[in-house]
Amino acid sequence: MFEALTQRRYLMPFKAARLPQQVTDVLVIGGGVAGLRAAIAASEYADCLILAKDTIEQSNTWYAQGGIAAVLQPADSYELHIKDTLSVGAGLCNQKAVELVIREGPERVLELLTWGAQLDKEPGNAHDLAFTREGGHSYARVVHADGDSTGKEVAQTLINTVRSRESIRVCANTFVIDLLTDGGRCLGALALINGQVNLIWAKRTILATGGTGQLYRESTNPKIATGDGLAMAWRAGATLQDMEMVQFHPTTLYVAGSSRTLITEAVRGEGGYLVDRTGHRFMPDYHPMAELAPRDIVARAIITQIRETNYTHVYLDVRHLPTAKFRARFPQLSRLCDQFEIDLSKDLIPIHPAAHYMIGGVDANEIGQTSLKGLYAVGEVACSGLHGANRLASNSLLEGLAYGFRAGGHAGQEAAGEAVTVPPSLEHRIPPSMKTELDITDVTSSLRSIMWRNVGIERTGDRLIETREIIAFWSRYVMDKIFDPAVLGPAAIPGWEIQNMLAVCALITTAAYTRSESRGAHYRLDYPARDDEHWRLHLLWRRPLETPIPEPVD
Ligand code: FUM
Repeated sequence: MFEALTQRRYLMPFKAARLPQQVTDVLVIGGGVAGLRAAIAASEYADCLILAKDTIEQSNTWYAQGGIAAVLQPADSYELHIKDTLSVGAGLCNQKAVELVIREGPERVLELLTWGAQLDKEPGNAHDLAFTREGGHSYARVVHADGDSTGKEVAQTLINTVRSRESIRVCANTFVIDLLTDGGRCLGALALINGQVNLIWAKRTILATGGTGQLYRESTNPKIATGDGLAMAWRAGATLQDMEMVQFHPTTLYVAGSSRTLITEAVRGEGGYLVDRTGHRFMPDYHPMAELAPRDIVARAIITQIRETNYTHVYLDVRHLPTAKFRARFPQLSRLCDQFEIDLSKDLIPIHPAAHYMIGGVDANEIGQTSLKGLYAVGEVACSGLHGANRLASNSLLEGLAYGFRAGGHAGQEAAGEAVTVPPSLEHRIPPSMKTELDITDVTSSLRSIMWRNVGIERTGDRLIETREIIAFWSRYVMDKIFDPAVLGPAAIPGWEIQNMLAVCALITTAAYTRSESRGAHYRLDYPARDDEHWRLHLLWRRPLETPIPEPVD
């Protein structure tokens, strides 16, 4: 079925000896929380190069609103946070990963304060910090910054720290095309820098490319989140895990014609209600935790209510909350509502769910090492086992900090004692395509639509099969093309992106079809029950295999 996707090892032909070459100790691909934290840790021992697809500020991290979950208050406990994470993770969490992230969490958050992060304050609380509660948490343990701009503050703090380290170089606006491998080892990456394809040889490579939201028509993610890291890791032979697990956020602002903007779950944590077009507050009908139920339950309840009321969206209702206090707590959302003339004291806020976070990813152990020697994966691109089948709100910035620190430190120490490996010759050839061309923009937008319709919040076997066939068809005409930047300039990038998107969508769709049960973020209308007897296992994917390898939960 996916022959066209599994054949090609690299997206473009190259001969190493003919390309400009650079060398670094540790190469970090991606400039979000995990990549930045990894670079800071690696720089204690070795030289480090960060490649960012856009400016260093453009990452999912930058747009994160809610906060970072960590056990910082005396009345909270590691055991409670661990229990909440495991319970939301629906039987697929790796207990070791959960324990280590949650127990190391407070140290990682407090060190941000020493680097100048301005987290919101509430005198009298532990560390004088303000805490909020989000879905699935049994305690108010989420710290935040500037109300609903936590990601920006965390990213800026890490960027400032990176800039203060002489041993870290940042190369922005760089598209990484593929990971370089030889003899079963990752040796760096092939990347487009200033319009020129370069080879970057690295002793250790850390993949921190973030998420995949742009695979879906409705998404909270920035334009760059096209799943490039997953696709390149898969082409290079690394194992991917739990690819069917995609998290959908219940609340993005729904204004026809505008891009979907995340509305943080903390709005519900601070007392916001969800109501339908008739004004009915519906979440208590679906779950005892009402608006603070785990987000898969809230997202499904919303689309059920949209269907039942025969409408396009539902609403967030914050009219009963004191407006001035609300505006001070959520300044970014308040500004957004002002732009659309939504008066928070009188009007309802129209909302709709959207793809938000890739739970599955490159299989990584407790220091971020992948199955491919020399390659680490951290943050959203990785599947560390922390999130299981569903991610607890505000555990992702925490994961990025914890695994960035671990992987970066390990990679830096290992690299410091080694010489760089450069193979005597490395080359890849691709025959010219004999097939007609498809319009890339058209395929990209059709792919995002079909993923939203058929591989979204609710899935069925027949729709998944149909989607696989359509992806296989497009792949036959797109995957055999060479997007040569020497000929196309920057227009090569959308070509590589759709090649990556097709590969990742094929894996998500096939995994979603394979898992014939419902669990966490993966919901099958034709198999609505969780089936621990047959499915309490991970699905691993390794090229060129088209069928998954089942693996028991640790
Ligand atoms: O709702 C939010 O602020 C999102 C938080 C998260 O994705 O963890």
